[in-house]
Amino acid sequence: MNTFSDGSRCQAMLPLCLLLAAGSGLQAQTADGVHLQIRADQVTAHVSPTFAGLMTEEINYAFEGGLYGELVRNRNFKETVPERRNRQNPAQSTPAKEAKDLVHWSLVQERGGAGSMALDEATPLNAAVPATLKLTISQATGNQSVGIANDGFWGIPAKPNSTYKAMFYAKAAAGFSGGVSVSIVSNDGRTVAATAQVPKLSEKWEKYELTLKTGNIQASAENRLILSANRPGTVWFGFVSLFPPTYKNRVNGLRPDIMELLANLHPKFLRFPGGNYLEGNTLETRFDWKKTIGPIEERPGHMDDAWGYWSSDGMGLLEYLDWCDDIGMEPVLAVYAGYSLRGFRVKAGPDLEPYVKEALEEIEYVTGDTSTTWGARRAKDGHPAPFKLQYVEVGNEDNFDRERGSYDSRFTQFFDAIKATYPNLKVIDTAEVYTRVPDVVDEHFYRSLEDMELHANDYDSRSRANVPKVFVGEWATRVGGPTPNLTGALGDAAWLVGLERNADLVIMNCYAPLFVNVNPGAMQWQTDLIGYNTISSYGSPAYWVQQMFNTHHGDNVLSITAAGIPSREWQQATPVRRGPPPGAAAAAAPPAEVRTLATPMPKQLPLMFFDATRDSSTGTIYVKAVNHTGMAQPVHISVSGLSSISPNGKTITLAGATMQDTNSITEPNKIAPVTADVTGLGSDFTRTVPPYSITVLEINGK
Ligand code: AHR
Repeated sequence: MNTFSDGSRCQAMLPLCLLLAAGSGLQAQTADGVHLQIRADQVTAHVSPTFAGLMTEEINYAFEGGLYGELVRNRNFKETVPERRNRQNPAQSTPAKEAKDLVHWSLVQERGGAGSMALDEATPLNAAVPATLKLTISQATGNQSVGIANDGFWGIPAKPNSTYKAMFYAKAAAGFSGGVSVSIVSNDGRTVAATAQVPKLSEKWEKYELTLKTGNIQASAENRLILSANRPGTVWFGFVSLFPPTYKNRVNGLRPDIMELLANLHPKFLRFPGGNYLEGNTLETRFDWKKTIGPIEERPGHMDDAWGYWSSDGMGLLEYLDWCDDIGMEPVLAVYAGYSLRGFRVKAGPDLEPYVKEALEEIEYVTGDTSTTWGARRAKDGHPAPFKLQYVEVGNEDNFDRERGSYDSRFTQFFDAIKATYPNLKVIDTAEVYTRVPDVVDEHFYRSLEDMELHANDYDSRSRANVPKVFVGEWATRVGGPTPNLTGALGDAAWLVGLERNADLVIMNCYAPLFVNVNPGAMQWQTDLIGYNTISSYGSPAYWVQQMFNTHHGDNVLSITAAGIPSREWQQATPVRRGPPPGAAAAAAPPAEVRTLATPMPKQLPLMFFDATRDSSTGTIYVKAVNHTGMAQPVHISVSGLSSISPNGKTITLAGATMQDTNSITEPNKIAPVTADVTGLGSDFTRTVPPYSITVLEINGK
């Protein structure tokens, strides 16, 4: 255990801190500044090679209209839209839409052309696409045309000098003599960004693939994809897809700008596929992995009812794994554990067996060689080499399963089966269990800045005796929207410093949610690490904190003590409890009674946070300092245990003028780290950290 100051250890100096902080909000500064003592020869923990990763699920249009490259929305004509009730303003509620409404598709009739479109259940493409789009062209001569237009995910992006790959299934009725044009066209119909033709259609279902190239155009999102014909007759469309250039040119690949942001984070693992998305509201809407593999036109898709929109499942199990490959992450695979959000649960025992089998097969798909059934299937899907897998998580937040013993018994069944087949796999639980000892426990924290700071040092005092390692599988300081502002970033940095300092116990961590599409109506969960619209993307200040931390740390945590840390008093809001008073029969009591509970005692919150790690191969020491005060803070640093220290080093600093400063789609780089060479370092020196800042100081010593 290290001896770095935390809330309780700070008590001894609180009178001084308080004196200086009193009445001055966050302007606190101790008389003589902060004193840090770093002992370079005392290693308190080793940082796990998989310490920092990503967590992901289909939320906030993370993949659909986000990372997943597909530009056509409702490409297999199955999309439905649930009713959206606005309780405050019922007039603004939106009714449900059925597949027959052909959501996101519309009819285009040009220059006097005429026709109609409808969903046709009599002409299926395959089992996954049981109804197709029938286009009837009643009038089309000369330059007249009739077609179908897709409005994409908040528009079809047209970017300069880019190559788009269109793919569609179609067939023509006997007597149709025309072909089909595929074009990216501005919403006003005036500008064609790119176009290509299929000269003749078959009378049988055929797959057509085309390349569309844009010229030196202005990037814009105000476009549609139009497939049109200029001869009378009937044409069926079975599936329509359009991909822009993808990261590493993968087929069915991912959006390059977002992937570059992710690669720049240097994450070591990916926790997927959720989150609530894994569980679904019901069994039918869980992440049913077998339906997410194989050719995209054979994937049925499903309603992501956990977050309220349709998933094409184009982002399927293999795509998550390829994503891992592409930026050097290892998968942390969460398997469906027999519990869905609306309280559906499978009883442990024979009822649960099919789901345990499903999980074992999923693990085989990820790790099996080609002699195994599911390894062979993965090879057929395009990836013969097995993926490295060390961690499997059983479920997600199963503490929501209120039935006593339910998760314990379900976990036990999964744990035993996984260990019997894959003894080297480490199994993660998501709620307390008693019957088995998990290898790792997954803990989630979504907090205010104050709560984050209050708890930033919690792991310092967590027992190490016979306890599983900890995976902080979801965490965030929820301040700022759609993406966190500097306040959020300061809370995150304080929290991360605490995790890093306790890296002997906390072996993995990942922020959540990772993504948000900032277009209107796309967000279900505010405060997300990375934002994007149809054209561009950006990292929040919290993103930059992780980028700085992930790329500047050593493998050894060093002993560090601190004195003179400023703090402030925080009065937590008085909690209220809704519902019947204790003892009252629920039915007899008014349902929304609000009771005020006792006001908690005020708390002292530290306002600065530190840790130090050292790279055992280079000798570089990384000191991290988080300053949540509005004042520049001198930090006196003593380093012992080294024979020499170079006077020259480096700082990487993230700071802003106010705690509300943030990045956005229109101002993506307002808050970004600044690197500077520094000198004057040694065994005793002072550096001043700016107000509202996060700093990494690199010290080179031997
Ligand atoms: O990150 C958003 C949600 O928060 C996750 O889906 C769930 O696991 C948690 O409750």
